[in-house]
Amino acid sequence: MDTYERLFSKSRELYARAVSLFPGGVNSPVRLMKHLPYPFYVKRAEGAYLETVEGVRLIDYCMAFGPLILGHAHPVVKEAVLKVLENGWIYGTPTELEIEYAETIRRHFPTVEMMRIVNTGTEATMNAIRLARAYTRRKYIVKFDGCYHGAHDYTLVKAGSGAATWGVPTSAGVLEEVAKYTLVLPYNDVHSLEKTFKEFGNDIAAIIVEPVVGNFGLIIPDYEFLRAMRELCDAYGSLLIFDEVITGFRLALGGAQEFFNIRADLTTLGKIAGGGFPIGIFGGKSEIMRLVTPSGPVYNAGTFNAHPVSLAAGLATVRELEKEYPYSIANAAARKIAEEIEKIAGKSGFDIVVKYIASMFQFYFKKGDVKNADDVRAADEKLYLKLHEICLRKGLYLTPSQYEVNFTSAAHTDDVVNETLRILEEAFRELRSEVRRG
Ligand SMILES: Cc1ncc(COP(=O)(O)O)c(C=O)c1O
Repeated sequence: MDTYERLFSKSRELYARAVSLFPGGVNSPVRLMKHLPYPFYVKRAEGAYLETVEGVRLIDYCMAFGPLILGHAHPVVKEAVLKVLENGWIYGTPTELEIEYAETIRRHFPTVEMMRIVNTGTEATMNAIRLARAYTRRKYIVKFDGCYHGAHDYTLVKAGSGAATWGVPTSAGVLEEVAKYTLVLPYNDVHSLEKTFKEFGNDIAAIIVEPVVGNFGLIIPDYEFLRAMRELCDAYGSLLIFDEVITGFRLALGGAQEFFNIRADLTTLGKIAGGGFPIGIFGGKSEIMRLVTPSGPVYNAGTFNAHPVSLAAGLATVRELEKEYPYSIANAAARKIAEEIEKIAGKSGFDIVVKYIASMFQFYFKKGDVKNADDVRAADEKLYLKLHEICLRKGLYLTPSQYEVNFTSAAHTDDVVNETLRILEEAFRELRSEVRRG
């Protein structure tokens, strides 16, 4: 049987060089994959597949953590990017492309009347919160346990994603004086939301929420929970910020707001909106957005803001999504895997809980439902990671942490899904043998 080290031997050499260059040897924490001796290194990708430096082909469900809804290296996106490059790639001036791009975003997100285009989801949420505080002249924000809104001080409190994987719910270096204005509540808990607004309501600038949690595994919201947020924000004059960095263009063209039919005051976008290139957007009501520099006093600027390459890739991606076929394929793939994986696990004697929505899925080794971060914490993470390692050796790359989510794309055709299910059958059987052996 191939071991991880034997299969990914060149990666070991690369990682040996990386450890003295980057903290932990990587440039973003989840890339380390804490259950493996070192990460595998990729040299190319196409469709639903990654190819490592050793030439190992892996079916990919991490999909770069979300931007690639069309699959890797989609030819339409590539062509759009190459076309931009012919004319130079950054000018430090406005471009016609940014207008066309923003009009397209606004068509799909009608609540985003005006926007500012930045470079990452982190920048988008940081600016949205600053803006909400300036607009309301209030200090507190409400976030939810397990939601991740990027790596900045306002929200690195009980955050998900890498922060959860590495057990650093509050980052060192974040001042208590800042963190104390971030109120953290359990997800899907209307009662605690109402109680908090009763106590702090007049000082709450905004609620920031992942309308579907994709950073603490996958947690689906109760409709009443989202509805309660809207109503409380209206009642207390607070702003509702939907962080749609993952859900934007994934749940639907109009994101979670279209999917759940709930209006946000401010929206943040990223990932798919850049078609695989760096992007972040924060936007909302014109009345609020006019506070942003240079028309208002809330400072935002960026050398790379509205970068033409990201805009071209994002626009090409959205136009492809408008044809609907990417959603049919990606959503069918997630549904089929979600439906089958529970049976597959059961055959090997494992109880799992599976969650899926649109083109996202995740499963947990536990009984009972998953409605909030504590439910995810109660799952057996060790079994997930063990299964993950077995799958890798068999050519399947599931998302590398229990606290992340699996993404499907328009490249995850039925053939790819069937191959995935075959590997999962084998992997669960092997997991059963390993658990028996202890
Ligand atoms: C919901 C959400 N918000 C914000 C971010 C931060 O985006 P970025 O990694 O582009 O800074 C992420 C990243 O995973 C995210 O999932």
